[in-house]
Amino acid sequence: MSKTAIPSAFQIKELIHQNRYLIDGELKEWQGPVTEVYSTISSTKPYSKTLLGSIPDMGEPEALEALQAAMTSYNRGQGAWPTMHVKDRIHCMEVFVKKMATKRDEIVKLLMWEIGKSLPDSQKEFDRTIEYINDTIEDYKQLDRNSAKFQKHDGVYAHIKRGPLGVVLCLGPYNYPLNETFALLIPAIIMGNTTIFKPAKHGVLLITPLLEAFRSSFPKGVVNIVFGRGRAVAAPIMKTGNVDVLALIGNSKSANALQDQHPKSNRLRLVLGLEAKNPAIILPDADLDLTINECLAGTLSFNGQRCTALKVVYVHEEIQEAFNTGFSEKVDALTFGNPWEEGVKLTPLPEPGKPAYIQELIEDALAKGAKILNKKGGKHFDNYIWPAVLFPVTKDMRVYQEEQFGPVIPIVAFKDIEEPLNDMAESNYGQQVSLFGKDIYALAPLIDTLVNLVCRVNLNSSCQRGPDVYPFTGRKDSAQSTLSVHDALRSFSIRTFVAFKDNELNNETIEKLLETKLSNFVSTDYIL
Ligand code: G3H
Repeated sequence: MSKTAIPSAFQIKELIHQNRYLIDGELKEWQGPVTEVYSTISSTKPYSKTLLGSIPDMGEPEALEALQAAMTSYNRGQGAWPTMHVKDRIHCMEVFVKKMATKRDEIVKLLMWEIGKSLPDSQKEFDRTIEYINDTIEDYKQLDRNSAKFQKHDGVYAHIKRGPLGVVLCLGPYNYPLNETFALLIPAIIMGNTTIFKPAKHGVLLITPLLEAFRSSFPKGVVNIVFGRGRAVAAPIMKTGNVDVLALIGNSKSANALQDQHPKSNRLRLVLGLEAKNPAIILPDADLDLTINECLAGTLSFNGQRCTALKVVYVHEEIQEAFNTGFSEKVDALTFGNPWEEGVKLTPLPEPGKPAYIQELIEDALAKGAKILNKKGGKHFDNYIWPAVLFPVTKDMRVYQEEQFGPVIPIVAFKDIEEPLNDMAESNYGQQVSLFGKDIYALAPLIDTLVNLVCRVNLNSSCQRGPDVYPFTGRKDSAQSTLSVHDALRSFSIRTFVAFKDNELNNETIEKLLETKLSNFVSTDYIL
């Protein structure tokens, strides 16, 4: 087989047999069974998937060992980490982020190979994550500064702060294996929780360059990293009832299955970012060019593999023909190629079964009366299927009902705005919507309704999570808790405080506590 031309900087020169895992501050060597990791990108002609390396296939004993390490480190609230002064925890995080920044090239390369994300988007994922960590540090300083005080009501003083929740089990998704996972893990750690982290199925080797940074930046047991299938690793941990927070970005079925395993439901807090079926609603007076461009980005950035992707497009009958024609042309003008190729917008799908699944959705829609509007729609490659623009899509079609999480675009025509509004109200999802139009008399009542059906109304803009300072959440099966730089610190902590009646004994005691700095909690130190 001849080799395809891959720039030297992006070639896989050595396989990564990732045989270490992090438990209790020690990088242990795995001697058990392993799972091979493949990329759907070919290094040869003819096509063949590329072996990247392997990861440990761990099971219950290692999962429980990791849980024990996290529990010991938390030590029922007495551990060094949950009781540490905020400035010292921040220092550990600063050490970590510096070490992480040195791994950019390795991680970006693995993002491309493991999940097929384009070079600019992989770089963006890495840089956005570093920025997220730095912003989290700054926000936590501010949070701590705001609580460096005492308040008094009805003769009772209070020193109110936010404290950790306990042990956090953290599971991230394959589409943002670095950014979204760290958007859970980092706030969980910095707030004083101890953690067990299992990387996603795809995008797992890219954690390898960070294992040593995790080991050396935090006290032992604060971060424990295990590998394997969710069923084998996460389920036994949940069954013990010793997890305080399930932090998961993925789908609601796995989240439900895991939370059902936990025997003490009131102990378990859920921080979940789940699936969605975000609609675009295109009103008759929408700016056509802008709408087409935003819908293109919304439906097909990273091949539609984003929870925030536009997964169904509602277009008003009056503008339907012009939109459909212009949009289909632009879809076919996109460039497909390997992630490092200049200007590529469509890239190989990391899940080997995805093209066949998308094909099933297309066939089902065609059988029920839809047509493929674009010439290339549905064309197969070894690891890809060209996005099909399907029209008219109806509610009985699978592509309307299922979260496709891939390159296929269902378009629904509507006459009366009540049609998309009713569909959204009936939907199990409620993350975001994109609303396209100009007439403020039409927009105003719509905005007022849509904000009650989803959690972000994007006006003449595609749906997206960022900027990360904005709240990211959803209704129904789309999320629990809110994430953002600021909100995540709250989601992974709880308000807890010291209160005392205003009398001589208490006032003297508190003064001495502040003077001697013996308590890390009772402290009015101002972190700059
Ligand atoms: O997969 C869902 C992500 O949160 C989407 O984030 O909108 O920044 O691509 P994004």
